[in-house]
Amino acid sequence: MENLVTLADLELEDIEELFDLTDKLKQKHQQGTEHKLLAGQTLGMIFQKSSTRTRVSFEAGMFQLGGHALFLSANDIQLGRGETISDTAKTLSRYIDGIMIRTYEHSDVEELAREATVPVINGLTDLLHPCQVLADLYTVQEVRGELQGLKMTYIGDGNNVANSLLLGTTKVGMNISLAIPEGYRPEKEILATAEKQAAKSGSQIEIIDDPLQAAQGADAVYTDVWASMGDEDEAAERKQAFKDYQVDQELMAEANEEAIFLHCLPAYRGQEVTAEVIDGEQSKVFDEAENRMHVQKALMVELMK
Ligand code: CP
Ligand code: NVA
Repeated sequence: MENLVTLADLELEDIEELFDLTDKLKQKHQQGTEHKLLAGQTLGMIFQKSSTRTRVSFEAGMFQLGGHALFLSANDIQLGRGETISDTAKTLSRYIDGIMIRTYEHSDVEELAREATVPVINGLTDLLHPCQVLADLYTVQEVRGELQGLKMTYIGDGNNVANSLLLGTTKVGMNISLAIPEGYRPEKEILATAEKQAAKSGSQIEIIDDPLQAAQGADAVYTDVWASMGDEDEAAERKQAFKDYQVDQELMAEANEEAIFLHCLPAYRGQEVTAEVIDGEQSKVFDEAENRMHVQKALMVELMK
């Protein structure tokens, strides 16, 4: 593994290894045992969009590994004034040991990964959110002890999180059912890649209109915001389009009794999910958020050590 741009680039074995290392690092952290595996190393974190979890989990994680993390707001570095991605990649590679980037255009991350000589991690683009889905899969595995054959249900917008869920679940052999209205469905190319992966892993993919049908027999029910970062000006129109796509108790009742509720956060109670569900017993959203840090620490060790 040289970079993490998309989960499609990982082998199943890479994910298994990553989760084994995550178990170890999480345990060390909980026991208060030092694990400074990246002592002396620096991660640069370029942010063109807001973040709570991604920024803090990478920064705290890097500190726990004995390294240092630099917050680079795209507006404050020359990238925001028109310096090229390529020149930014080449310059940063002379100073630091890894780059995490959160931006709009997915092709910008691909270019950064091509031009940098240090590992590049995708911290979210309009197309994908791979670090999130690694933490999501890890959270399911923690609860259920396995992933193969379990069912993930996703309700709502066919956005970056939905795209990465398609790529992640079909890598590990989970079945995935997505209830997404026409016009908001995942990119054709992503779906084609997921279908290829599914043919290898045995996963089943279903994309339908009906949320209750999608939730039937689910082991994990997932939703995300109706308007992602960059879609704010469509918020009113999207509220209308997704009004029947709220995860509530009625929908959770269609899932398996022991099903968990996941959300990448930030969440908007009363829109994509009711307070009753996200604050209820089946919700694992804060374990999921915590696991971002543990999984990303393992990822940085695999990539940068
Ligand atoms: N889930 C997630 O990526 O959260 P932030 O936008 O707060 O980083
Ligand atoms: N789909 C959301 C995820 C936020 C973590 C967004 O892109 O805004």
